[in-house]
This record gives sequence, C-alpha cells and structure tokens, in this order.
Amino acid sequence: MQRWIYHQTCGKKSKKVTTIWTLALYLLLCITLFSITFFLFPHNSFNPINDYNVLYVEPQLNFKDCDLSKGQWIRDERGSLYTNFSCPTITDSKNCLKHGRPNTDFLFWRWKPEGCELPRFNPKAFLNLVRGKKMNFIGDSVARNHMESLLCLLSMEETPKDIYKDADDRNRIWYFREHDFTLSTSWTKFLVAGFERTHANKTGTGIYDLDIDKIDEQWAKDLPNTDIAIVSAGHWLFRPIYIHRGDETIGCIFCNLPNMTQISLKEGFKLVLSISMDVITAKTT
Ligand SMILES: *[C@@H]1O[C@H](CO)[C@@H](O)[C@H](O)[C@H]1NC(C)=O
Ligand SMILES: *[C@@H]1O[C@H](CO)[C@@H](O)[C@H](O)[C@H]1NC(C)=O
Ligand SMILES: *[C@@H]1O[C@H](CO)[C@@H](O)[C@H](O)[C@H]1NC(C)=O
Repeated sequence: MQRWIYHQTCGKKSKKVTTIWTLALYLLLCITLFSITFFLFPHNSFNPINDYNVLYVEPQLNFKDCDLSKGQWIRDERGSLYTNFSCPTITDSKNCLKHGRPNTDFLFWRWKPEGCELPRFNPKAFLNLVRGKKMNFIGDSVARNHMESLLCLLSMEETPKDIYKDADDRNRIWYFREHDFTLSTSWTKFLVAGFERTHANKTGTGIYDLDIDKIDEQWAKDLPNTDIAIVSAGHWLFRPIYIHRGDETIGCIFCNLPNMTQISLKEGFKLVLSISMDVITAKTT
C-alpha cells in the first residue's frame, strides 16, 4: 500500500480561527522540501542544528505573484535540517541510514519556485505561528510522511509528546506542550468512503467502490477538532474504481467496461477532492 502515494494541498480552519490557507500552502512546500529527507544523514559532514536558530524574519512571500507549485528541485549543499540522531520521533522503518542506505545525495535538495525564494524552514517561527492550534494531515502514507518530517523539524525546538496511536499505527497525535500545538494524522485512502470488493473466498480484489456522498469516517470524526488541515491523498485512485453518489453509479476509473462511463483519474480526483473541500468549507462557515 505504500506504493500509492501522491499529494494535494489545501487549507482549512476551525469555526473561529482565521483561515490559514497561505500558511498551509507554505507549510506544505516546506514539508515537501524535507519529506524526501526522512532518512537522515549521519552526523558528520554538516551541523544540522546551527542555521535554523536565527532570528525570525517574517517571510516576505508574495503569493499572488509566485506560484509555489511551479518550480524545480535544486541542489542545496546545506543538507537536511535534521538527522536520525537529532530526531527522537523517527520511525525505525524510515531510518534509512541506520539500516544501511549507502548514499546521502538525497538529502541535498530544496524546492525552488520559479518566481520567488522560499525561506528556509524555521521551527521556532513555525511553532510560534501555530501556538494553540491543531494541525491535521489527512491522507495516505504521503500525508503520514509529511507529518513525520514536520515532527522531526519541530523536534529541533521542542520534543513532542506522543499522546495517541491506534492499533495499526495509522492515526497519531503528538503534542508540543510548550507551544500548545497539536499535530496529528487521519488516515484515509480515498478521502471519501471506499470499500474493496472481495472474491468469494473473502480475499480482496483490488477493485474499489467509492461513495462520493460520504467522506471517510476517520477524518470526518477528527475534523471538528482541527484548525489547520493538510489534505494529501490520491495515489489510491490509480486502480479500478467504481464511483457512486449514494445509490447512483456515476462511472468508473480504469475499469474499461463498454457499458459504463469512463472517468479519468483527474476527474475522479476532482470529485473526491471537491466533496472534501465542501465538507471542510461547511465546517468553517
Ligand atoms: C543513524 O544512522 C547511523 C548510520 O548513518 C547509524 O549508525 C545510527 O545507529 C543511527 N542512529 C540512530 C539514533 O538511529
Ligand atoms: C481467492 O479467489 C481468487 C479468485 O478466484 C483467487 O485468485 C485467489 O488465489 C484465492 N485466494 C485464496 C487465498 O484462496
Ligand atoms: C456492464 O457489463 C458488465 C460486464 O459485462 C456487467 O457485469 C455489468 O452488470 C454491466 N453493468 C451495467 C450497469 O449494465
């Protein structure tokens, strides 16, 4: 299941908190920047801690003129901000260097938008911005990776407390006491309710039915308790999927049936995303 990865971003707010779209977008880019740097660097050739602790300068980004999603990955000799030594929350399965990954090139990249410079992620500034807030990553393993990467970055400033983990270790909650900041993940494959069809012998077929009238339970349940949502899902849609709206079947993705409306991956993604955004908007207005 870890193969189906993809991400998408949006911002959300709770009842009374101001929308933090821009912050969410900025955050996502910062996280994306570091999300490939999960598998940390041995603590020799650079000091990961010394250049985040600079005086906080308000990022002067003009989002109107700068499309943050247009750009490229460029080399960054400064390397990752954190290492497997500095990050107390790194999961063993993602500790590549500990498990013998021989190369470290993957740690030296950063995202460069065409129209502007992104300031380097500053955990101190970030934690001050989100003081008192609850941020939730909604999505699949990519969302989870982003959350864990952010955890490692923020751990440079404060070690979070692990306050919740479900039996499958899919939904997690971390709390930064000094900053009263909660960071969590709500696991969902499709954002909307999805069910796998099974063979007569009860094994899964890899074919799914989605109901775009219902968002997935876990994040529906967590939404009232969320100030900032990062929606990050999509790769599970790369398979045969029948899309329904309640009792009505709208069509299918990758099923190739002559008697059924073909829905492209992009259209399918728009459908699940638009109901997700509707639900988030409804909660915030
Ligand atoms: C970090 O990675 C190194 C290999 O580069 C490994 O020897 C060490 O055990 C790891 N440390 C932790 C705390 O995971
Ligand atoms: C279950 O049934 C499917 C379809 O008939 C078959 O391909 C699969 O091997 C079966 N699995 C088991 C564990 O019996
Ligand atoms: C479409 O064709 C498939 C395979 O021939 C059949 O199983 C299915 O019931 C048909 N669906 C509809 C909506 O007619």
